[in-house]
Amino acid sequence: MKRVIKTRRLVLLAIIVLPFAVAWAEYADVVINMQAEDKGMSPVIFPHWFHRVRFQCSVCHVDIGFKTKAGASGITMDKISQGQYCGACHNGEIAWSAENCDFCHSGTPGLETGVEGGHKTAGPGYY
Ligand code: HEC
Ligand code: HEC
Ligand code: HEC
Repeated sequence: MKRVIKTRRLVLLAIIVLPFAVAWAEYADVVINMQAEDKGMSPVIFPHWFHRVRFQCSVCHVDIGFKTKAGASGITMDKISQGQYCGACHNGEIAWSAENCDFCHSGTPGLETGVEGGHKTAGPGYY
């Protein structure tokens, strides 16, 4: 009996909390610094909302294969140059090319991978 109640509570919690967690990430910015700073580059700021208003979630999270967890996709510059991940669009055709290092590597040194900002996204260069 007790276990049933606990499970129910957990399900309820998931139903109530999950959409907020997703919405928060959706509107904020994602800092990606798994290796950039170790390799001498500033952390990457990915303005999630800026992109989300232009593309469907599925374009990025299904077709391109970005994970829905900051830093989890294993993005590298080699893959970007080969047209994967950010390079699927930042190729000088759909959007400006990957030669504009500072547009993406715009974070303050020391920033950790994760979600920054709130529902008003601040975008690159603000952290
Ligand atoms: C232009 C591409 C793009 C679009 C469109 C997009 N996302 Fe994302 N999303 C990303 C990238 C890139 C990341 C970070 C992945 C990484 O760091 O490996 C991310 C991360 C996330 C995260 C994880 C944030 C965290 O807490 O770690 C969630 C949740 C998410 N997206 C949900 C959504 C939803 C919901 C939509 C549609 C409403 C959406 N995304 C649209 C590219 C996109
Ligand atoms: C369209 C966005 C974008 C642009 C433009 C860009 N990068 Fe990156 N870069 C990334 C992302 C995302 C990562 C993964 C960051 C991490 O995990 O720390 C990354 C990682 C890196 C890394 C560490 C991992 C690796 O692959 O070696 C280096 C070094 C790097 N970039 C250098 C550059 C240089 C130099 C330029 C300009 C010629 C550049 N980047 C332009 C998005 C970009
Ligand atoms: C589905 C296509 C797509 C993907 C994937 C994508 N971008 Fe973009 N991005 C765009 C477009 C389109 C623009 C607007 C370009 C313009 O204004 O000329 C843009 C603009 C940006 C900007 C500038 C935002 C501003 O305020 O002007 C940054 C920074 C950026 N992208 C970083 C990234 C990084 C980092 C990744 C990978 C983690 C990525 N993008 C993946 C399409 C994409």
